[in-house]
Amino acid sequence: MNQRYFAIRVFGCQMNVYDADRLRETLTSRGWAEGGEGDADFVIFVTCSVRDKAEQKVLSELGKYRASWEDCGKPRIALLGCMAARTGAEVAKKFPWIRVVAGPENLGGVADAMEESYEGGAPRLITGDTPELSCVPLSRSNRHKAYITIANGCDQFCAYCIVPYVRGRFKSRPPEDILKEAETLVRGGAAEITLLGQNVNTYGRDLTGSLAGYGFSRLLADTASIDGLKRLRYLTSHPSDFTDDILDVMTSRRNICPGINLPVQAGSDKVLREMNRRYTRNEYISLARGIRAALPHAALTTDLIVGFPGETEDEFEQSVSLLEEVRFDLVHTAAYSPREGTPAAKRADQIPVRERARRLVRINGIQTEISREINERMVGHKFEVLLDEPAPKGEGLLQGRTAADKVVLVSAPPDMSGKFRDVLITASSPWCLDGEII
Ligand code: SAM
Ligand code: SF4
Ligand code: F3S
Repeated sequence: MNQRYFAIRVFGCQMNVYDADRLRETLTSRGWAEGGEGDADFVIFVTCSVRDKAEQKVLSELGKYRASWEDCGKPRIALLGCMAARTGAEVAKKFPWIRVVAGPENLGGVADAMEESYEGGAPRLITGDTPELSCVPLSRSNRHKAYITIANGCDQFCAYCIVPYVRGRFKSRPPEDILKEAETLVRGGAAEITLLGQNVNTYGRDLTGSLAGYGFSRLLADTASIDGLKRLRYLTSHPSDFTDDILDVMTSRRNICPGINLPVQAGSDKVLREMNRRYTRNEYISLARGIRAALPHAALTTDLIVGFPGETEDEFEQSVSLLEEVRFDLVHTAAYSPREGTPAAKRADQIPVRERARRLVRINGIQTEISREINERMVGHKFEVLLDEPAPKGEGLLQGRTAADKVVLVSAPPDMSGKFRDVLITASSPWCLDGEII
């Protein structure tokens, strides 16, 4: 049998990285080999729908395969992930080189469909009940770090967000599956594991029978107890479900990293209410204070949207003042992008695109200064860093992370990747730190 090759391109969030890692594992165990795009029989796109820009990028990339497809019938494309769930059938009509389409809930059928297509089968749109993509991703894109999705989907229905429509209802995986997977990953060399979910704090709420009452803090404690696991992280928290028992576990386990992503999304009570976020500005601020009191070295990061429909100038300034008050280490900002089918997209009071862009520039400027000041204070201090991959820019530099998830660049040989080293911070910028191994 001829060797079959695939290449994977991942867009969007960490959940897609995890899905891509599992698919890689499945395909390699079935005899496929990963290669460059030039050799690939199949290029797998794991896509994102969160903003229009994410989808446009994929559409423009898909267009680039026309010449090669018309010339030699290669590569075929598997369009997977959130965008495939939303508009996959439509997109596949436009680009005949798309031979397999599957949303995040249908990934278990992808390997079979790719093999049928390789043998000359017709294009496949995978829908309905599909078996789980059940494997432990040991052949990952990153050898030292691994993700584990602990719950699929989302039930929060924030007014702007497409995720519940493309990833389905919130469903917790059984704890024993997660723990077994984590143990296998650690035995396979993962130094760091990140537990993933759209709202990890509600993990377990849908578990029944003997598992009723098994919640996120227990999963966190049980995972942290795995022998040899050096670092444990989790993403994403929801402010209205972040409870004290999570902090209790974090303060009692040294390997749970003090880096918390707690998306706020807006600084005004009116906008938060209209976003369906279920907390007020003051509740958020007191939660952030509580976290910092319990974990003084914690880095707090957030997500924030500017230009939500109806957001007035004054309400936008309340987001600015919230950033000044809380002083996050890092803020993932985004201009609101209307997503068809969500309640916010139907509103008549959309903010003009140019105004959304202006607000984004202003808020990024404010946060850059805050991040600059916070990072400057780290210069001269020592941190344990997990050295990871070559820095995207800079010859001879490795990129690593502190426990609080700060990016650190050090001069180190590539074979030091995967090692923990004590690093003295020598310089800083708003986005990263420079250091020397000591
Ligand atoms: N579940 C997490 C939460 O509650 O924040 C993350 C959800 S989403 C995958 C990641 C981020 O994308 C969100 O935190 C939000 O800031 C941003 N986002 C989601 N929908 C958006 C939209 N329609 N326009 C702009 N940004 C959006
Ligand atoms: Fe989207 Fe809200 Fe769910 Fe996050 S919690 S994925 S923002 S609906
Ligand atoms: Fe994008 Fe889907 Fe993640 S919409 S952000 S890839 S959950």
